[in-house]
Amino acid sequence: MRLVSRSGLIALVLAGNSLAACAKGNTTTYDYIVVGGGPSGIITAERISEANKKVLLIEKGPGPTVSTGSNHTLVWNDTLTPIDVPGLTTAIGGLDLWQEYTCKDHEATAACVLGGGTTINYMVFVHPPEHDFDKWPAGWKWVDIAPAAQRLYERNPGSNTPSADGERYDPGMYDIFSTFLNKLGWRLTDMSEQANDKHMVYSHPTWNIKNSKRAGPVRTYLPLAQQRDNFSLRLGTTVIRLVREGSRVTGVEVQGSNGTREIINLSKNGRVVLSAGALATPRVLFNSGIGPKEQVEVAAKTGVTLPPQKDWIELPVGKNFKDHPIFTLDIQTNGTWGPLASDIVLDGSDTKNIDLYETAGSGVLTQGRHRLIFFSSVVGSDGVTRYFQGSAAPSGTGLISLKVYLTHGLTSEGVLGLAEDGKTKILQSPYLQTEADVDAATTFIGNFVENLQSSELGFKIKNFTNVSAIINNPTSGVHFVGTAKIGTDDGRKGGSSVVDTNAKVYGVDNLFVSDASIHADLPSGNSQAIVMVVAEAAAAKILAYK
Ligand SMILES: Cc1cc2nc3c(=O)[nH]c(=O)nc-3n(C[C@H](O)[C@H](O)[C@H](O)COP(=O)(O)OP(=O)(O)OC[C@H]3O[C@@H](n4cnc5c(N)ncnc54)[C@H](O)[C@@H]3O)c2cc1C
Ligand SMILES: *[C@@H]1O[C@H](CO)[C@@H](O)[C@H](O)[C@H]1NC(C)=O
Ligand SMILES: *[C@@H]1O[C@H](CO)[C@@H](O)[C@H](O)[C@H]1NC(C)=O
Ligand SMILES: *[C@@H]1O[C@H](CO)[C@@H](O)[C@H](O)[C@H]1NC(C)=O
Ligand SMILES: *[C@@H]1O[C@H](CO)[C@@H](O)[C@H](O)[C@H]1NC(C)=O
Ligand SMILES: *[C@@H]1O[C@H](CO)[C@@H](O)[C@H](O)[C@H]1NC(C)=O
Ligand SMILES: *[C@@H]1O[C@H](CO)[C@@H](O)[C@H](O)[C@H]1NC(C)=O
Ligand SMILES: *[C@@H]1O[C@H](CO)[C@@H](O)[C@H](O)[C@H]1NC(C)=O
Ligand SMILES: *[C@@H]1O[C@H](CO)[C@@H](O)[C@H](O)[C@H]1NC(C)=O
Ligand SMILES: *[C@@H]1O[C@H](CO)[C@@H](O)[C@H](O)[C@H]1NC(C)=O
Repeated sequence: MRLVSRSGLIALVLAGNSLAACAKGNTTTYDYIVVGGGPSGIITAERISEANKKVLLIEKGPGPTVSTGSNHTLVWNDTLTPIDVPGLTTAIGGLDLWQEYTCKDHEATAACVLGGGTTINYMVFVHPPEHDFDKWPAGWKWVDIAPAAQRLYERNPGSNTPSADGERYDPGMYDIFSTFLNKLGWRLTDMSEQANDKHMVYSHPTWNIKNSKRAGPVRTYLPLAQQRDNFSLRLGTTVIRLVREGSRVTGVEVQGSNGTREIINLSKNGRVVLSAGALATPRVLFNSGIGPKEQVEVAAKTGVTLPPQKDWIELPVGKNFKDHPIFTLDIQTNGTWGPLASDIVLDGSDTKNIDLYETAGSGVLTQGRHRLIFFSSVVGSDGVTRYFQGSAAPSGTGLISLKVYLTHGLTSEGVLGLAEDGKTKILQSPYLQTEADVDAATTFIGNFVENLQSSELGFKIKNFTNVSAIINNPTSGVHFVGTAKIGTDDGRKGGSSVVDTNAKVYGVDNLFVSDASIHADLPSGNSQAIVMVVAEAAAAKILAYK
């Protein structure tokens, strides 16, 4: 790969072929410019470069691993950062790098670092069940998608036994909570091998871990692309807008970390793929005159250069905004286990766990934070089945922090827009907007609370007042989807879709979207695995589109 020089000096020495061109700006052009180096952008760029296209991947944040330029190494190992070590996922929210890696330009939480959400998340890796694609358009049902899932799992399968010695460490919380669920008639499943099993089941967590490190496309795809001459990665560079000539995109306007703006051009038949995520892709579209007129008008007030108004394209960008609401239950048991003491891992004094990790790729540090994941469902008052995921982790001595997500089947949706300071803004909340969603959540949480309270295991729910107090205070699942939805009902004609079934934006000849924005529905579990599966599928559709 070519590492794009920010100073231009290295480029000048290396290029040689075009010194005059350098003097008036870099004239290099690309077959594909991929905007955003999250999981979708890396997978899409890697697959497109594999097909011999000349690809530039542009990421606004820094690299999180030593090989991508991070110097946040651990005091006890200068090849590893806290991001790499699975056992440290509980700690990263309290480190300086959390501030560096989280975006400042959204009302909601998102990651602005190479790898996107997969760099800072809790690594729970839910292979999507077939039914997650039931409401997707033709060509995107599970039968069509299965090969894309296979391609992902070959490189990035996830693991529920990440310790190289095959042991599961720190089983105390799992033992007591699975005992409770067994008594209720729930069964043990393998959430990866039996992905369709989603009713009254629990599993050891599957995490996005490979070779005892946090996996994800930064480790499982990017190195493959970096071996190719035709692939370039530019970090610390934000795409502000698309440069358009009518219905064609000719390039992108970018801003470097020093604030300087420049235009990067596409080659003659070049294309742009937006992979900035469900919150940021809409902003690039608004800034390019694509979306609801009111939002494009707000973009104008932020000072961005818009195309002439006759070229604005009215599409429902930012609508169909969905997420999982989370309901939290803190369950006190009589267990003697607790959360991992990450402070003594960070400072190097936990030599027992560190040695086991470094020398044998084993031990509790190879595991994520959660100890048990469950799934179930209830039929809502509107006859629609709604799914629930529970993610349980130790959070104190004998204390289980249980996050229950209302997932696939929910009918609420919100609206994402822009504010005049350029930040994205939630115009309508995506949480619990329909009565049937509220009813389903109340039923499930209500039953679960009753079972916890009547359990002979002596469980107590901490700070419990009543079920409606829990339902009325959901937190964000941070699994945003749908803001540039895929479908056959063209949004320019009053339909709900922003991209067609080739993932191409309606009304633009050479603009595609490959990220969580295009998802036609919410998945049954945490979103990263299905996001990666869909990116594999989208890359193939984009390459096949002539
Ligand atoms: C804190 C947190 C915890 C989570 N926990 C889990 C979990 O445990 N399990 C799970 O499955 N999912 C989890 N998720 C969700 C999961 O990480 C996301 O669904 C997934 O990362 C979405 O991928 P994406 O490619 O669509 O976008 P993103 O991951 O958002 O990536 C978008 C990328 O584009 C870049 N970008 C944005 N705008 C621009 C621009 N204008 N120019 C250049 N670059 C740009 C960003 O910096 C980012 O790298 C979590 C997410 C977060 C934020
Ligand atoms: C900012 O960086 C660009 C290269 O990305 C360089 O050409 C420009 O001179 C820099 N500007 C300033 C003010 O340092
Ligand atoms: C232009 O930038 C590319 C990377 O995008 C780099 O490989 C090339 O050497 C640069 N060319 C010039 C003439 O500066
Ligand atoms: C990009 O293309 C335009 C013409 O479409 C040209 O005027 C401009 O100089 C090009 N920019 C660079 C940096 O090559
Ligand atoms: C690099 O990209 C160019 C332009 O698409 C293509 O002609 C060439 O075959 C590619 N080279 C390689 C080695 O992939
Ligand atoms: C780490 O890198 C940043 C910029 O990437 C730099 O400012 C900082 O000084 C570096 N720190 C160390 C300890 O090298
Ligand atoms: C750092 O950790 C890796 C395991 O990820 C190990 O292979 C390597 O030997 C360790 N380095 C040192 C200096 O201990
Ligand atoms: C916790 O309670 C259960 C059920 O009452 C009991 O079997 C178990 O021995 C207790 N464990 C501890 C550590 O007290
Ligand atoms: C729960 O109550 C305890 C005191 O009993 C308090 O310290 C804690 O902050 C409360 N937690 C929440 C989430 O309200
Ligand atoms: C539930 O508790 C809240 C306080 O947390 C209280 O305001 C509300 O009235 C209670 N609702 C019911 C139905 O008891």
